[in-house]
Amino acid sequence: YKYDLVITNGICVTASDIASYDVAVKDEKVVLLAPSGSLAKANARRVIDAEGGYVTPGGVDCHVHLEEPALFGRGSSSDTYETGTRSAIAGGCTTIVGFAPQPKSEPSLLSALAQTHVRARGNSYCDYGFHLLVGNPSQQALEELETLSRDEGVTSLKIYMTYTALQLRDDQILSVLLKARQNKIFTMIHAENGDVLNWLTDQLEAQKLFDPKYHSHSRPPILEAEATNRAIALSSLISNTPILLVHVSDPGATLRIRQAQTSGQPIYAETCPQYLFLTRDDLDHPGFEGAKCVCSPPPRDKASQETIWTGLRNGTFAVLSSDHCPFNYDDAEKGKKTCISDEFPVGRFKEIPNGIPGVETRLPLVFSAGRLPLTKVVEVVSTNPAKLYGLYPRKGALIPGVSDADIVVWYPESKKPNLTITNSMLHHATDYTPYEGRKVGNWPRYTILRGKVVWDRDNGGVVGDKSYGQFLKRGPSTLDGLWETVEEQGPFDVASL
Ligand code: URP
Ligand code: ZN
Ligand code: ZN
Ligand code: ZN
Repeated sequence: YKYDLVITNGICVTASDIASYDVAVKDEKVVLLAPSGSLAKANARRVIDAEGGYVTPGGVDCHVHLEEPALFGRGSSSDTYETGTRSAIAGGCTTIVGFAPQPKSEPSLLSALAQTHVRARGNSYCDYGFHLLVGNPSQQALEELETLSRDEGVTSLKIYMTYTALQLRDDQILSVLLKARQNKIFTMIHAENGDVLNWLTDQLEAQKLFDPKYHSHSRPPILEAEATNRAIALSSLISNTPILLVHVSDPGATLRIRQAQTSGQPIYAETCPQYLFLTRDDLDHPGFEGAKCVCSPPPRDKASQETIWTGLRNGTFAVLSSDHCPFNYDDAEKGKKTCISDEFPVGRFKEIPNGIPGVETRLPLVFSAGRLPLTKVVEVVSTNPAKLYGLYPRKGALIPGVSDADIVVWYPESKKPNLTITNSMLHHATDYTPYEGRKVGNWPRYTILRGKVVWDRDNGGVVGDKSYGQFLKRGPSTLDGLWETVEEQGPFDVASL
């Protein structure tokens, strides 16, 4: 065969263009884009007729938590690498970057990474990389950053300004930023003021306000805006070290990020579907039900959703990730849910593990919302994440001879499934979705990973296997040439402050 696979009669959407092309694949790569229909009779092992549907690069989801120990509340991850990546491909996502968690008790990042490799290896339906989740910036950990970036293909890390198990002090954040800068490691920051939210939590509990909805009251928007401002200030102190504010939900934080970007600082930001589709009212249900939408920061109000959409459209947010961080709603062991007791019949919001599942619904939700140009959708769900995390142009593009053949074929207008999301149709191992009952106008018909069909919605569903996903060694970020700018600025010099 001349080609392993041809996709004919599709409308290709990339971050830059929408145009009708046939796509040819050979040896796991895109090798040719040709005029529409011209490859329909090519000598190919398999021909997929897209029938006029959209063809996009596979989704790249760079914020996925799988098999992490209890760090964000009670309970443990309900998805393994196997079930989480199975869910990913069924939702059109061909690459994830998960976290290698380093608990406070573990001084070594390399050891945290090795343990995570063991969990993922041979258990992944899609390609994957890791960010280090730095919980203990020990001398050893800081020294290991060089090896991580140079030899291990781990070019990003995440730090926290909240969660007792993970929160770093400002001086620790500065130490991390300095070492990250020296090693071209990109720093993701969870910006919420942990001390203040703990204090507010105690105030709420003192008034016997325990329901899930009070999770939102314990984390008012100003906590996110304050911590965002502080993170930006700390980055500027270390000669403008590039950072990304993760899972931004609040207009005040968004405005501060926009200002910093306008003044030329290398401040990047991520948002997530939960801040586009959920509000704080979704936490306000009788009983424990609201726990299904408990994540941090919490969903805000309708007006905030609009600000977040605008921020995606105008580039304030470079990426849209899922922040898939799944816990079972019904985690009953010995007949009793861990968050519920006789004393706390509606649970206790401070014990609800923070995070919701969403790796499978991310693309369908935003693709069919009709709120952004399709080129922008591809940019924020695939191309920019690939650039930001050192995977471009292997991932996030359809460049002949260069890009992996990671492709999603969507349904054409004439065959669009009118879908109502239910948890039973999803492929994670979690017992609920916060998007239950929501309508979506399209869904990935085929997901193709390195030339292989791994999801065929009408013929077998998940047809890939868990040994096919490969670990991706990542290079430094290439978005906006951000490290070149850092090099021009020269090294951090405290005497210049
Ligand atoms: O509530 C959330 N976002 N849980 C996941 C952990 C994190 O901080 O990203
Ligand atoms: Zn976070
Ligand atoms: Zn509701
Ligand atoms: Zn997260």
